[in-house]
Amino acid sequence: MSILFTPFKLGNLQLRNRFVFSACEDNLASEDGAVTESTLKKNATLARGEVGLIISSHMAVHPSGRTRIHQTGIYADNMIAGLKALARSVHEHEGKIIFQLGHSGAPDKSNTGGQKPADSYAVNSMNEDNLSPYFNHREDSWGGCEENRFRLLKEIILAVKNVLPAGMPLLVKLNSNDYTRTQGITPSLAVDYAKRLADIKIDGLEISCGTTALSPWHVCRGDIPIQEILAMYDPPARPQIETALKKMQEAVRFAEGYNLEATQMIRPVMGEIPLFAVGGWRNVSSMENAVQSGYTDLISMCRPLIREPRLVRRIREGKTSASSCTNCNKCYMSVRKGIPLRCYSKGLPQ
Ligand SMILES: Cc1cc2nc3c(=O)[nH]c(=O)nc-3n(C[C@H](O)[C@H](O)[C@H](O)COP(=O)(O)O)c2cc1C
Repeated sequence: MSILFTPFKLGNLQLRNRFVFSACEDNLASEDGAVTESTLKKNATLARGEVGLIISSHMAVHPSGRTRIHQTGIYADNMIAGLKALARSVHEHEGKIIFQLGHSGAPDKSNTGGQKPADSYAVNSMNEDNLSPYFNHREDSWGGCEENRFRLLKEIILAVKNVLPAGMPLLVKLNSNDYTRTQGITPSLAVDYAKRLADIKIDGLEISCGTTALSPWHVCRGDIPIQEILAMYDPPARPQIETALKKMQEAVRFAEGYNLEATQMIRPVMGEIPLFAVGGWRNVSSMENAVQSGYTDLISMCRPLIREPRLVRRIREGKTSASSCTNCNKCYMSVRKGIPLRCYSKGLPQ
């Protein structure tokens, strides 16, 4: 049996295999942030497709931290019933689900229907942007040195741990490189943060790269959907944007398992804490090699499972040895356009 189909224990969660659906915004919630039938259907389909662990779309922990009108929320008591139904929709098919908590912090909220950001930069315990020296210029106890820059994430993690039932795993998604022009997170700084996360005993670490604000095409390497982006701008602005995007395209070319090198660098400081490499897993043989060689414990995928929610089952049944995702990134654009998530490789609606 392939190592990819061996069970894995994550905290007290028994996962049936090594495949993870990496967090994915979906624009499927109602305007007030509630889980809908579409949310349940999407996640049940993934669980029926035998994904071992599903990480939800990033859920707003407060109305001020919403990124989009149809983003799922996790900040009001009347949301609990829907969130429970979401967990059940996955458990019914022997899957497991973890909710990704998010606060969008400072970015523009004009497309969200959300409130203005608060003055303080309260941020996602599962997101990395607040850690970066590029974004964090504070000189008080929340900035100025790595220990201080790490403090907000640490405080959030400790507070969440405090209310989590024993054995319920707390994961962090860590940016290993934010590709900013002046210094931000670099792979060696990511190793430093990973060590700090290991010291406070998180239960798993997912290694990513890029930031949605400044380097989104590093998060999702592949084709930049230039024409779709240009269509969002007034014609006079387009030539300059087109030149910039074409220049950027070279830097974000797709590569198989493109965060594995950073994951390897981080591995030695993590001890027994499970690692999830995300980004660019398309061929079963490279996934197997990565797990077999001990660089990562779990294989996180996003775009391939948007395209083929039953991909894991098809791999197990020997029906395929690779994802058919072409990294066109139109799914990523669909999220930005505020329309329901699916594979739009044949074209986005105008
Ligand atoms: C449509 C879409 C939505 C995403 N939403 C999130 C999100 O809510 N939270 C997050 O941490 N990452 C998000 N990501 C990034 C993915 O989790 C993943 O890190 C990235 O797509 C690279 O993996 P892949 O090559 O398997 O797609 C999103 C990616 C896509 C394509």
